[in-house]
Order: sequence, then C-alpha cells, then structure tokens
Amino acid sequence: MAQLWGGRFTKETNQLVYNFNASISFDQKFYVQDITGSMAHVKMLAKQGILTEEEKEQILDGLEGILTDVQFGKLQITSEYEDIHSFVEATLIERIGEAGKKLHTGRSRNDQVALDMKLYTRDEIEAMDELLHELLDALLHIMEENLDTYMPGFTHLQKAQPVTLAHHVGAYFEMFKRDRLRLKDIHKRMNLCPLGSGALAGTTYPLDREYTATLLGFDGPTLNSMDSVSDRDYLIELLSAMSTIMMHLSRFSEEIIIWNSNEYQFVEIDDAYSTGSSIMPQKKNPDIAELVRGKTGRVYGALMSLLTTMKGIPLAYNKDMQEDKEFVFDAIDTVKGCLALFTGMLNTMKFKKENMAASAMNGFTNATDAADYLVNHGVAFRDAHGIIGSLVLYCIEQDKAIEELSLEELKKISSVFEEDIYDAVSLETCVNKRVTIGAPGKEAMEQVIAIERAYLQEEEY
Ligand code: ARG
Repeated sequence: MAQLWGGRFTKETNQLVYNFNASISFDQKFYVQDITGSMAHVKMLAKQGILTEEEKEQILDGLEGILTDVQFGKLQITSEYEDIHSFVEATLIERIGEAGKKLHTGRSRNDQVALDMKLYTRDEIEAMDELLHELLDALLHIMEENLDTYMPGFTHLQKAQPVTLAHHVGAYFEMFKRDRLRLKDIHKRMNLCPLGSGALAGTTYPLDREYTATLLGFDGPTLNSMDSVSDRDYLIELLSAMSTIMMHLSRFSEEIIIWNSNEYQFVEIDDAYSTGSSIMPQKKNPDIAELVRGKTGRVYGALMSLLTTMKGIPLAYNKDMQEDKEFVFDAIDTVKGCLALFTGMLNTMKFKKENMAASAMNGFTNATDAADYLVNHGVAFRDAHGIIGSLVLYCIEQDKAIEELSLEELKKISSVFEEDIYDAVSLETCVNKRVTIGAPGKEAMEQVIAIERAYLQEEEY
C-alpha cells in the first residue's frame, strides 16, 4: 500500500478496505491523460510564478519519462498504488525527488480525476466519430450502388410497398448521422476544463485556469468549482448517445439476421464474418450481428447504472463517483468494437438482388399503386381500395401476382383496367413515381445521396 495521505491517521488501512477503495486496476486506462493533464498544470504553475522554470523542466522531464516508460513496458503500473494519480505522483517523486512533491500544488484528485475522465472520453468520442464516419461511408456506398435494387418495404414485418435497397439502407444512414451529431453536441457541451477547481472550493493559489484550459484544448474553464468536481452529466449524455447507437446497430443487426435466414435469403454474410456449428455441418450463423444485438444490453445497463449512482449524491465530490469508470470504459469499448465489426460485416456482405425483387413482386407490394391507378381513372379511393382488396383475394386463390393476371381477368374485377395497368404496377414504376424528397424514387434518392456525400466530406472537430 503506497498512499498519498497518512499524517492524520494512527492506524494502517485494513487491506480489504484498501482493495475495496482502490481504482488503479481500471483507472490506469487513462494514464496518458493523467500525465498530459499534469504537464499542463505544471506549465501553468510556472507561468504564474508558483513553480520555478527549473522545477517545471524537471517535472516535465520526469513526467515525459514516466509516460514513455509505461508506453514501452519499462515501467509497470502496479496495484501497490491506490489509483493512477498516486502512481504517477509517487513515481515522479521517486525519480526526481523534491521538485516532484510540488506537482500537486493547487490541485486535488477531485479536479484531477474530473479532468482525466473528460480528456479520456473526449478522445474516445473522436474515435467513435471516426468509426461512425466509416460506417456512414459504407452505407452511402451501398446506397449509390443500389438505386435500382427493388425490395419490399415492410410495416408490421408484413410486405407493404416496394422500396429499394438504397432507400432502406438510407434510413440507417439518417440514424447514424444523428448519432454522430449527438456525439458532436456532447463534445461541445463537455469541453470546459475542471482543473483548478481544487477539492471543491477552488484554491488560494493565483492559478490561470484559462491558460490550462487552452493548453488542454478546452474552450475555457468550468464556472463553478463544486459543479466541476461532481459533474458526471456528460458521461450520462454519452452513455445515452451510445445506447442509441447500439439500439440502431441492434435494429439493423436484427434485419440482417432475418435477411440472412434461409427463408428470406436477401443477403449472404461473408464467411469471414460468420461462424459454424459444432454439431450441424450445414450451419453458417450470423453470430456477429447477434452479438452486436446482444451487447446492446451492456450499454443500456451502463446508462442505468450511472443514472442510479448519481441520483442521491450531495454536492460536491463523493466516492460513489468512482463507479463511473468501469461502466463507461466498457460501454465505449463495446460501442467501438461493434461499430468496427458491423462496418466490416456490411462491406463484405452480398446482397441477393433477384431474391429481394422477387419478394417485392410476390407480396402485393404494388396493391396501393393499383388502387391509385383506379383513382387516376376516376374511381373514388375508398371504392378503389375495395376493388383491389378483392383483386388481391383473387390473386391469392390463383397463386398469382397482380401483374400476372390477364387483362381479361383484371377487367372482370373492374372494367376500368386497361393495358397500361401492367406498367403502372411494375416495381420500377411504383418506386420511381415516388419523387418527393425522402421517397425511394431514383430521382429523389440521387438528390439525397448528393446531400449526404457533401455532409461526409465536411471536416469535423
Ligand atoms: N479514484 C477516485 C475516483 O475515481 C479519484 C478521486 C479521489 N478523490 C478522493 N477524494 N478520494 O473518483
């Protein structure tokens, strides 16, 4: 046990208490951010004349040495220390002596951990943004390639009206685009620096908090020291945004699992992204999509956990807040892993276009268009609805699609039908007549694709 405190205590900490209290097993994950924050703090202390230039140089060299030694495996972070902050400070003192003892001037672990967590999550938000960008790029590529790939659009998982694969995938493009915007928004709101808030009530040293904030790439310092050390809102927002990403990935995974099933055969997942069965030789399972769907629960769990942890905490810092880390780390790693694998799976997946089109044709997805045909020829919509209803019933009895009936058969049901009905109910016409922006018609989709291409080319962060 190597502790940063002890003067006030007459007894050693009980070992079980020490273990229960320690966070080094997980907060070592942000050693880079902890050292980066300390470097900025030291530069600010020297600028303000609180440390000499020489002390600053010594401390910076020492911190740099710790950083590279940990990175290259020459220095192990061990459980001898309570947390990553104690480890860095104690190692610094061990290496450079007296000057190292001045690192923690005008700082508390409370504002330090608040900073570290912000720096860590900020980096991870940027990494997730990158992964979302790659996913969007993959989706847009599929959209560009499949403007004429007809498939049934569903409501209630019942075939409804024909759409295209481009249009269906485009729905997910919008979802993941909003996810990206949400992350950007969180990034903006959280980007204020808590360092200099001390334990809860600021410090008596003449710190330049604006300077530290600038050094660390923040938009400015936080404005209330009690809030600074006890704010975990941004983590809750992030977990919520990540839960939404997972919900979207999970919905898409569910569709891919259905599409990949023997009954549908709309897609074939690549061998590299499938697994086999230990007993049934014929099996090729969509495990990646199932795991993504399954892991959604972990991320939702993290959100509920932190909301619950935070709900009864009085101001300012309380140790409960240490519980933010493991769940957030796990959620971030889960989301990043799922995004990367999902994109890989999509990029290698084969779309069985003929099966999709055949399914759209066999499911009366053109029934609404057949009704519209009658309306365009003077029949009232309610009557047209009834006529096409009986037409569909007739088709089911005959085991035929609407367009497979002869004009004679059609005319028996309504004399309004003429030769041009066949063109009016073809998949191509049904889709491409839908030209308002947002609809699946080719013209509308081309406009949307141009907008989304331009969006993806914008520089973020
Ligand atoms: N490990 C602690 C955490 O994660 C660091 C802050 C400790 N502060 C304290 N007053 N004990 O929250």
